[in-house]
Amino acid sequence: MDRMFGRPIVTQEQMRMRIRELGRQITMDYAGKDLILVGVLKGAYAFYADLARAIRIPMRVDFLVVASYAGKPKSSGKVKMVTDLTEDIAGLDVLLVEDIVDSGLTAQYLINTLHKRNPKSIKICSLLSKPERREKHVPIDYVGFEIPNKYVVGYGLDYQQKYRNLPYLAVLDTVDDDG
Ligand code: IMP
Ligand code: MG
Repeated sequence: MDRMFGRPIVTQEQMRMRIRELGRQITMDYAGKDLILVGVLKGAYAFYADLARAIRIPMRVDFLVVASYAGKPKSSGKVKMVTDLTEDIAGLDVLLVEDIVDSGLTAQYLINTLHKRNPKSIKICSLLSKPERREKHVPIDYVGFEIPNKYVVGYGLDYQQKYRNLPYLAVLDTVDDDG
């Protein structure tokens, strides 16, 4: 599988170091709070597992599944919650864990939807951000890496549901992702 891609744009080592830093920061910021780490599946699964283990405070874990791309590299402009949380988040400090904030549509939809359930606070931690592609302004509280406007795969991110298991982040050259 590695042969299909050029050099990683984020290596496993860079990923490991950055996630350790994010874990430290979140540990400090959420000390004494009632944290629930909400993973946005499927894309966030790899990042989530590593980030959760870098956070050194007692916390709850939960997941939801959204569909926004329908197997296409370009956003369909619609976000749908396919599977909801199992926990009641009222009164809790919610930290949403995303793979990437691209247009911002997914993040905005999730913030709006979960806000109605009266959490004590709600913030976003995204492994990646493509600032050039933003359509909706959503504050991202924790960002792993800002990347250029290229379609990337690996470390949880897919192209047509494949390549999520690539252990680093690579650019998929064949995809036209300019709009
Ligand atoms: P949004 O445009 O911010 O709503 O991004 C929605 C979703 O698009 C992300 O959670 C990813 O699953 C997917 N996505 C955006 N850019 C990429 C990419 O470069 N590679 C793989 N998935 C992407
Ligand atoms: Mg995806």
